[in-house]
Amino acid sequence: MSGTGWERVTVVRDGTTVLRDVTLRAADGELLVVLGSSGSGKSTLLRVLAGLDEVTSGDVVIKGRTVTGLPTDRRRVSMVFEATALIPFLDVSRNLGWGLRTRGTPEAEVQARVSGRARQLRLGRLLSRRPAELSKGERGLVGIGRALVQTPDVYLLDEPLAGLDAAQRSTVRREVVDAVRRLGVTTIYVTHDQSEGLAVADRVALLHQGSVVQVGGPRELYERPVNLVAAGSVGTPSIGLLPARLVSSGRQAGFVVGPRTLPLWRPVPPALRDHIGRDVVLGLRPEDVHDAGTGEAPEAVALDGVVTEAAYTGRNTVVSLAVGAPPVTAPGVELSAGSSSGATLRSFFPAGAAVRPGDAVRVAVEAVRAHVFDAVTGQALWHPADDRTAGPGESSDDLR
Ligand SMILES: Nc1ncnc2c1ncn2[C@@H]1O[C@H](COP(=O)(O)OP(=O)(O)OP(=O)(O)O)[C@@H](O)[C@H]1O
Ligand SMILES: [Mg+2]
Repeated sequence: MSGTGWERVTVVRDGTTVLRDVTLRAADGELLVVLGSSGSGKSTLLRVLAGLDEVTSGDVVIKGRTVTGLPTDRRRVSMVFEATALIPFLDVSRNLGWGLRTRGTPEAEVQARVSGRARQLRLGRLLSRRPAELSKGERGLVGIGRALVQTPDVYLLDEPLAGLDAAQRSTVRREVVDAVRRLGVTTIYVTHDQSEGLAVADRVALLHQGSVVQVGGPRELYERPVNLVAAGSVGTPSIGLLPARLVSSGRQAGFVVGPRTLPLWRPVPPALRDHIGRDVVLGLRPEDVHDAGTGEAPEAVALDGVVTEAAYTGRNTVVSLAVGAPPVTAPGVELSAGSSSGATLRSFFPAGAAVRPGDAVRVAVEAVRAHVFDAVTGQALWHPADDRTAGPGESSDDLR
């Protein structure tokens, strides 16, 4: 099999299972992002691929070749780690060329690659400095440059933008993506920053407590999270969650949330039929929760809430509100944030909106925009995107 990645890899350290039966493969030339919260096992994944850590069981594969057990220098990997160690007694220029020189690359080519990469990453004025004479962000940039001057079988980038400021992050992110695309080198890009991950990825693998939760394109992860962990991990501000009960009356389905019922304006979708009368969790993205004062869609239902936070972003104000329903307690919800004060929704209000914590607000939501999860298992049952792709017999025109 071709590709680069992990085959049933388990890593146990001091009795702790750090990676649990991970099977994941990047296609040749693919930029695969591994997204996960702190401690989820991202660095360990890269380290076993690089040969810096051993697997407890399973295999690692680079470009179709099983390399489990091979030493690092026989794996043709080029790495950027969180705290990339530069060689202290060499200047930046020599640090950049180090990997190439150790592989016996002709000096003229080393020079050409180093100066080209230094120009792209705007390192020119740093070339004759030693690492101790650089800022943290500059050292990070040199680390990236040193990896990218090489053309390995795989780039392993562990939080490559950590330590850079906001402006540098977007420039360097673009340079990294350009470089790996142009060279066609398979790249595993680790980050805990989901917006960075979604921006660069061909595909994203979501890692949680050492297991792969979901693998897919950025849009698939956003539109079709497989469970509450995935829903809470992708999207900023994060998805709002409401405890609800699915009801059906006549040919109309609805969700009971506290004292209100959110009508779906259609029969129960087939995927939800086994859940009539049962508890579910509704997930509503902030873009689907509107200030009810602004005259929304006639199918929307108003929910009353109390503002818990109003964060001005310049473009808008992100309002978090407690809606007077108990907090959601399904598996994976501890990630999805803000549940201690009861069920929480988030919404984009206009930048100039005069909202303060403690204010009563009314928001409009539509049941048809809600992701529906099983309240016991946390698994996704239905997504708004399923509505668009419903078969002919299930289209909304048919059923209204
Ligand atoms: N020797 C060890 N014994 C026990 N647990 C360990 C050992 N080494 C690592 N771990 C645990 O393995 C888990 C995964 O660590 P890892 O560094 O891969 O996480 P990460 O996803 O890269 O986190 P971060 O985003 O903070 O860098 C952590 O919970 C860590 O505490
Ligand atoms: Mg890490």
